[in-house]
Amino acid sequence: MNIGAEIQRLTDELNRHNHLYYVESNPEISDYDFDQLLQKLQQLEKEHPEFASDLSPTKRVGGDITKKFETVKHRFPMLSLSNSYSEEEIIEWGNRIKKSIETPVEYVCELKYDGVAIGISYLNGKLMRAVTRGDGVQGEDVTNNVKTIKTIPLQLKGDFPDDFEIRGEIFFPIKSFEKTNEERRLNGEPEFANPRNSASGTLKSQDSKVVASRGLDCLLYGIYGDDLPFDNHLESVQKAKDWGFKVPTITEKYIFKTDSIVGIMDFIHYWDIKRNELPFEIDGIVIKVNSYEIQSELGFTAKSPRWAIAYKFKAERVETILEEVTFQVGRTGAITPVANLKAVHLGGTTVKRASLHNADQIEKLDLHIGDSVYVEKGGEIIPKIVGVNEGLRRSAAVKVEFIDVCPECQTELIRREGEVQHFCPNEKTCPPQVKGKIEHFIARKAMNIDGLGAETVDLLFSKGLVKNVADLYDLTFDQVIDLERMAEKSANNLLKGIVDSKQISFERVLFAVGIRFVGETVAKQLAKGFKNIEALALAKFDELVAVDEIGEKIAFSVQNYFLDEENVNLIERLQKAGLQFEVEEKVLSSENLKGKNFVVSGVFSLFSRDELKVLIEQNGGKNVGSISSKTDYVIAGANMGPAKLEKATQLGVEIISEDDFVRMIGQ
Ligand code: IVH
Repeated sequence: MNIGAEIQRLTDELNRHNHLYYVESNPEISDYDFDQLLQKLQQLEKEHPEFASDLSPTKRVGGDITKKFETVKHRFPMLSLSNSYSEEEIIEWGNRIKKSIETPVEYVCELKYDGVAIGISYLNGKLMRAVTRGDGVQGEDVTNNVKTIKTIPLQLKGDFPDDFEIRGEIFFPIKSFEKTNEERRLNGEPEFANPRNSASGTLKSQDSKVVASRGLDCLLYGIYGDDLPFDNHLESVQKAKDWGFKVPTITEKYIFKTDSIVGIMDFIHYWDIKRNELPFEIDGIVIKVNSYEIQSELGFTAKSPRWAIAYKFKAERVETILEEVTFQVGRTGAITPVANLKAVHLGGTTVKRASLHNADQIEKLDLHIGDSVYVEKGGEIIPKIVGVNEGLRRSAAVKVEFIDVCPECQTELIRREGEVQHFCPNEKTCPPQVKGKIEHFIARKAMNIDGLGAETVDLLFSKGLVKNVADLYDLTFDQVIDLERMAEKSANNLLKGIVDSKQISFERVLFAVGIRFVGETVAKQLAKGFKNIEALALAKFDELVAVDEIGEKIAFSVQNYFLDEENVNLIERLQKAGLQFEVEEKVLSSENLKGKNFVVSGVFSLFSRDELKVLIEQNGGKNVGSISSKTDYVIAGANMGPAKLEKATQLGVEIISEDDFVRMIGQ
């Protein structure tokens, strides 16, 4: 087999399926088949790193770390748009253009995506570099991260120019944003406030795996280069589609060509109402002159082009009555004040509640019960109170006071230093917190207990059958079948799900028990580093922080967890129930290496040097300290010194990789 050609074939095939799935939403193969192809490519690249490309579809899963984002000067300055907030301003803009241009003018209207601007350069169809806007003159190189965004092609198809830059907006689709927040809630991390800021934060993650996991998207809106094969904007966007980019389409009404101001207004009015139905957030409409020739005739001001303008939607604002403020307790114990309002129509929905965020917010607004308040739906999905019509306040109105005790369990609330949020510290028996912990435990990525959902957890808790996750393993058929709306089949299903969960690996159990700040990745690292729960429970602070990805905050949290007797009891009960509390070590022993002498040198990815040495002995081989004519094999890792390499070559000692070695021992 020609490895280079096979890698290229798989790369093309995967790129094609990726485009069909993410850009066209029209997949030809199942997710499973896609993963199989991807794994095949990953394996080949690992075995033949000389053929692995920087633009391989395997890069989509992330893993590249950027310690510091390099500053890069833009080849074409990245300007902004002049904003307008009224239709009159748009009319004036149109009239100005009409006056200075004799011929009829065509306009293209687009959505103004609310995200982060990005400029991506392609050379001979290959993605070379992606740079943020920065100050417009220079931005930051975020290439590794951008490569993980699935709708951005790594390799173009069709008839593309050799050298150009394409610009667009990277944004957080609402669904991905909500999914990310759900995960953050379960991990005890603070939720993101709005899609725009978190898209921007995500794009600056040092670990591109984080970016890959969040599901960002990108729509493109402009092409820059010399000798481009089109002479107007609409055509540029349509051509970009042929090369593999995700662009706005006329059928979706995301882009629209018109030769009149009336046409522009129609587009504005249409999206002012419909924007709530979009799968992403927009903050306005952009209108551009279509013809490149007219664009260059109109030119630029210091900051923005004269040939384009943004119409910003007014944040929709209504006035209504604040009837009551209630306090919600989240799964992590965070207290959120909620304004209960007299129902009012806003942005296509009826609003009865608005978030008040925290105590400072209430204080700042100087809220009184019965106040007439202004409510807005702005960048944030949940409406918020932005002000009070104080002129309408009754003299006897009572000021809104923040609560001192938890409304669910009456425990005194705390506010940690430097934090704005109040918390209920009673994580053991405060109902929403307990239920939240159980829901986290049974979730798909944790113990994956089939047949058990939030509603059943609620029932089990309210009946007093389950007060913590260990109680799940004591449930009997008779107890479960007694629950409302529970049929025999679902009861059996639920109990089977609980029994099956005993096979779930240690790392996932560790994630499932819900130690603060121990998310999926951290749990993996802890399991790998300490192998079993006893070792983890006894780990010293220094040992904890010595593990990859474990910082001081996590180390403290782990130690605190095991200092609490109730937690220790819980773990003991789970151990008795038969859950996995140690890493399953595969014993890799054979006689395959009998009589062979090995030298291990360099850094490896699957095993540490010491682990390799143990494996050599377990399989009948012998470790020798230095390379001599008696050495049979050198297992060479990354950074092996050139002197050793030369010596081995001179003596005719076979140099093998870690993967070759794994094959030798028959794994
Ligand atoms: S065109 C020369 N089109 O809005 C200006 N910009 O202030 C080129 N934006 O930073 C920009 N959607 O990130 C253009 N359809 C669209 C847009 C758009 C969002 C952003 C862009 C820029 C800001 C302009």
